[in-house]
Amino acid sequence: MQKIKYKSSWYYLKRSYDYFRPYIFNVIISVIAMGIVALCTSYSAYLVQPALDRIFIEKNIHALKTIPPLIIAVFGVKGFFRVIQSYQMQYCAMKVLEKLRNDLYAKIVRLPMVFFEENRVGMLMSRIINDVNLIRQSIPEIVNLIKEIFTVIGLIFVAFYRNAFLATWAIVILPIAFYPIVYFGRKLRKLGRRNQEKISDISNILQEIFSGIKLVKAFTTEKKEIEKFNTQNRKLIKIALRSIFYNSLSSPVMEFIGSLGVGLVIWYGGKEVIAGHSTPGTFFSFLTAVFMLYEPIKRLNKSNMVIQRAIAGAERVFEVLDSRELDVETEGKVVLKPPFKELRFENVFFKYSTTNDWALENINLNVRAGEKLAIVGPSGAGKTTLITLIPRFYDVTKGKVVINGHDVRDYTLYSLRRFIGIVSQETILFNMSVRDNITYGIEDVSDEDVIEVAKMAHAHEFITNLPDGYDTIVGERGVKLSGGQKQRITIARALLKNPPLLILDEATSSLDTESEKIVQSALDNLMKNRTTIIIAHRLSTVLSSDRIVVMEKGKIIDIGPHKVLLTRCDLYKKLYELQFREE
Ligand SMILES: Nc1ncnc2c1ncn2[C@@H]1O[C@H](COP(=O)(O)OP(=O)(O)OP(=O)(O)O)[C@@H](O)[C@H]1O
Ligand SMILES: [Mg+2]
Repeated sequence: MQKIKYKSSWYYLKRSYDYFRPYIFNVIISVIAMGIVALCTSYSAYLVQPALDRIFIEKNIHALKTIPPLIIAVFGVKGFFRVIQSYQMQYCAMKVLEKLRNDLYAKIVRLPMVFFEENRVGMLMSRIINDVNLIRQSIPEIVNLIKEIFTVIGLIFVAFYRNAFLATWAIVILPIAFYPIVYFGRKLRKLGRRNQEKISDISNILQEIFSGIKLVKAFTTEKKEIEKFNTQNRKLIKIALRSIFYNSLSSPVMEFIGSLGVGLVIWYGGKEVIAGHSTPGTFFSFLTAVFMLYEPIKRLNKSNMVIQRAIAGAERVFEVLDSRELDVETEGKVVLKPPFKELRFENVFFKYSTTNDWALENINLNVRAGEKLAIVGPSGAGKTTLITLIPRFYDVTKGKVVINGHDVRDYTLYSLRRFIGIVSQETILFNMSVRDNITYGIEDVSDEDVIEVAKMAHAHEFITNLPDGYDTIVGERGVKLSGGQKQRITIARALLKNPPLLILDEATSSLDTESEKIVQSALDNLMKNRTTIIIAHRLSTVLSSDRIVVMEKGKIIDIGPHKVLLTRCDLYKKLYELQFREE
């Protein structure tokens, strides 16, 4: 992730544009509608002159009949095209949002495990939800920018047409009047950015504390956590208040500067009209045009800010979408078919990307068909790491893992992962029905099959006692079920998958003896007639295994049956005495 270089703003604008291209027709319609809107705006300023001079001063009855309907018509047309413009633009913006979100999600879901370790879930969610939304605004805002430029040009044209001398002065003075906009804009933008950062800090705190609320309660740290939160919240409000201050200051300051201009202009314009060099209508038409300039110029500034933000969002989104470093998982073409023949680790070395030490060093291991192989070793020895290499959650750093004569990297991911069943300490359930959790990832399953595997997993009985039986929704991460129940559901899931190779990462002691017995018996059913690798924490598992692998500090130090190891492996003897003896 650190290696990623940000490309130029143009690259990201162009990349965003690629997404808008399918909707170019809508964009064109929108641009045309926008041109008409800009014309109408300028024309309405222009109409002030005939309205004043011909109706109010000349008292021309014909003008009285034509000009008011014309004004109404101009605004009617303007309104109509404004609706078309904004709907068309928003339409393609929303479609782009939809596509971008889908693409981003599809890419992230397929990324290798490593990515999910280095990136926090909150950050990924914010890319899918917020950053994509920023890009949505980019093209409409660029089109808006063009609209405002059109309008400004039209209005300046009217102003010059009405009074070239005053208009020249206005052009000179305007930038001074608009300096506060730039100044306040910059200040507000900076505060806005800090505001965003603080909000994301706060949501991180919320997410962490709410999901770890048990820990907070267990250590009664509520008071401390409340203080921590209050501090962050105070900082956020402080920033917000400064924003509000600058916001409320900016309008009066601008108005005051504006009044200076208006005073000057009325003084000069009035002198001209009184001296008979100009008509009131011409003067007010000029004034209207200049006043009308204020809005589009203010919006120009806003558009600029939105575009800057969109570029920042695009940077973050396309960093994920386009990055070579973040390639989706690679796979081979060979289809791995049952039955299981053999599994071999050949001189395997493995290092986690975040650490410098080898997590596994020079592993050589053979697993034979039908065998039950146990792995034992102290905590941190690398047992879990070793088994995650088989389904390629991680790839070896050196050496290779071979199943049925092919490197695991030669197989398609689908066939490789269908071939392997994993039941680990952490049970993962989604918030859907019990049935859907059991059949997850497996198609065309009959109700009879589900009940059969549930029975083998000793889960049928408790499931039928749930309020909605197999249709009971299990709650987020399965909160509505006990630890043992969750495990039996994952065992049923593994039974249904019916994998030729089974990998178990035994729970140390999360279950009480009663439910442990039930889970154990469910596991026995699962292991029947299946090649099994099992990370053993229980004496019974060790005793019933064909061979035992003893691991320490990332290395295999001995392999053999229980009796043999007891006589020749000191570490195994120690483990046996410490861990397994009490049983
Ligand atoms: N995702 C990770 N990133 C970096 N280092 C890791 C990661 N997972 C494990 N490790 C490190 O790799 C080493 C082996 O860890 P592993 O989880 O394989 O041990 P284990 O033998 O399964 O231990 P336990 O019996 O406690 O489950 C440890 O030193 C651990 O700190
Ligand atoms: Mg482990």
